[in-house]
Amino acid sequence: MTNAPAGAFNGSNMDITGRTRLLGIFGDPVEHTLSPVIQNAAFRAEGLDMVYLPFNVSSRKAGALEEAVGAVRALSIVGINVTVPHKEKIIPFLDELDGHARDLKAVNTVVNDNGRLKGYNTDGPGYLVSLRDELGFTPRGKNILVLGAGGAARAVLNALLGGEPASVMVANRTVKRAEELAGELKKRFKGVDIGVSPLESASLEEYSRAADLVVNTTSAGMNGEGVPDVPVDALPDYSVVSDIVYKPLETPLLIKAEERGLRVHKGLGMLLRQGALAFELWTGHAAPLEAMEEAALKALGLETGVRPVKETRGPAPD
Ligand code: ATR
Repeated sequence: MTNAPAGAFNGSNMDITGRTRLLGIFGDPVEHTLSPVIQNAAFRAEGLDMVYLPFNVSSRKAGALEEAVGAVRALSIVGINVTVPHKEKIIPFLDELDGHARDLKAVNTVVNDNGRLKGYNTDGPGYLVSLRDELGFTPRGKNILVLGAGGAARAVLNALLGGEPASVMVANRTVKRAEELAGELKKRFKGVDIGVSPLESASLEEYSRAADLVVNTTSAGMNGEGVPDVPVDALPDYSVVSDIVYKPLETPLLIKAEERGLRVHKGLGMLLRQGALAFELWTGHAAPLEAMEEAALKALGLETGVRPVKETRGPAPD
């Protein structure tokens, strides 16, 4: 017996059989993650007998994360995603890290290869692929303004810096945090001019005049609250303004940039592509992006047929 009202659960993937393979996401909280919706849509589209579930691994219960990782081995779980607050803490329990996850000291995807667990980070690569596929934007030789200095900024900056931009400016409300992040990045990316600034229009105006890309990694703008204090009017006409926040799909910063006539890059693209890269690592299949996007839009309460990610598609990637 279940207490759920009839018809309340309509997310079933397909018939679960004795052969169905299990995947999932570890986080605390996990209730709001879109990953189960996106991954199960991908399994359905590819006809894979796999199911992906959310696992709340308590951050308050000592040893819970280590036990959960043990369960991945014990239950032959094919793979997992890892979200806040476990991305860094999971590392000691894994057998191996790929280069990007090692540089970042953060894992968002784990692949179980016969009990040997390898950690990856598809957040930054997903961001880069999204920028390239949707807008034809690549970092090489560009001037890039990054708003924020938290975990998301670190992932995005690592990926962008790997693409050899000319310069990067890290702007954060708490300047000390930006200084620490920039100091760490300067050690690994010696050829790039990396600066630090307060997150204030007046301080950012000069750099903004030649910025090719502005990316918001802060939570300012989520749930419609506040626009990060950047001088959108000072940006050149060729600038791209990007926001990794996907709820709302059109953040206040993107609306302001669009009003100014600039090209914009929405956060859903990064979410889908980090998921697509994880899907490919687990299954070896090319990710069915359209099915994943359609499921995400539906879960966000947006009608299918409205295709915001594709609307921003620019020239072919170079
Ligand atoms: P995440 O892993 O999502 O990056 P985080 O590590 O907590 O989360 O970092 C949140 C980022 O958003 C930080 O850069 C934070 O600025 P501070 O370092 O000054 O706290 C930024 N942030 C959050 N709310 C903000 C707001 N209302 N205005 C400006 N910046 C904000």
